[in-house]
Amino acid sequence: MKNIEIIGTGMAKAGRKVTNDDLAKIVETSDEWITTRTGIKERMFCDEGESAYTLAFEAAKNAIESAGIKKEEIDCVVCGTISGEYITPSMACVVQRELELKEDIPVLDVNAACSGFIYGIEVARGLINSNGGKYALVIGCEQLSKLLDMEDRNTCVLFGDGAGAAVIKAVDGGVYESVLGARGGYEITVEGAGKVESKIKMDGKAVFKFAVDAIPKCLKTLQEKGKITLDDVDMVICHQANSRIIDHCVRKLKADPKKFYKNMERFGNTSAASIPMALDEVVKEEKIKPGSTIMMVGFGGGLTWAGVLLRIGAK
Ligand code: UT7
Repeated sequence: MKNIEIIGTGMAKAGRKVTNDDLAKIVETSDEWITTRTGIKERMFCDEGESAYTLAFEAAKNAIESAGIKKEEIDCVVCGTISGEYITPSMACVVQRELELKEDIPVLDVNAACSGFIYGIEVARGLINSNGGKYALVIGCEQLSKLLDMEDRNTCVLFGDGAGAAVIKAVDGGVYESVLGARGGYEITVEGAGKVESKIKMDGKAVFKFAVDAIPKCLKTLQEKGKITLDDVDMVICHQANSRIIDHCVRKLKADPKKFYKNMERFGNTSAASIPMALDEVVKEEKIKPGSTIMMVGFGGGLTWAGVLLRIGAK
């Protein structure tokens, strides 16, 4: 089984900025409550003409460009999302068609909610190993604004829209470890096919408790499997649900907070898009570069969790 490296990243921001003060005009909340409980100051919602698909397309295009490969070289597409426009075709198939990627490759969506991008990386690695090929495009994209009940202050202040993508390359040698799991649960739900009102419902407290247990466990497992410590890791990118969740985990692990990236202040919780968007930012901000070792950890609806340890590769 070959390991993989990330050789290109991209993201797409939705066009409409919604601040906490904007939301305070719609539901009984305040900038102070949202900021202190979550670290979120604003989020981006899709503007007229934008959707999870347009964002996914842009993020994927940017990732392929940044990888410096031709789009014809992509051997597999996996997309993590819970908010695609269609149940079928999958978001990955729509992107494949619009980007005119080649046809004789596996192309599919993964529904693992906020763990979707990390599940996607693991699936893509498996597929390029089993099916042959070298490069995979992995996307996380969401238009959660259309799944929000704007009368429910428990959820509508938390989420945002966006997309991120990465091109991964199969390599000889390298470093790759992963941990994935799920424990079937209804703490976060969005009703599916045939339901008129598909809105996010969440037991926030239960998910918070779950998250502050799951993230440190994932990071510990990755350290054991990879026979390294957090000191050897250049950056840890957690799902951007709540800054207090990340702070809690940093304290629990006695880790260096500077290694735990945060951007929920500007984007809110973008579910499957949050990790690849943060990944693209840390690459662009040169916090990581070819040769850097990173860990990424997702958690969310399912309840699912997933972590990977890998390296940023050269183009
Ligand atoms: O991506 C999927 C993963 N999701 C998550 O990771 C979410 C995890 N959970 C959380 O981030 C937090 O639990 C929340 C941010 C959702 C909530 O924070 P909390 O500190 O757990 O607040 P709470 O649910 O205990 O609510 C405290 C109070 C309640 O009022 P009472 O019952 O104490 O009178 C809520 O009704 O805050 C109230 N409240 C609000 N007040 C103002 C809930 N939402 C709001 C709001 N503005 N938007």
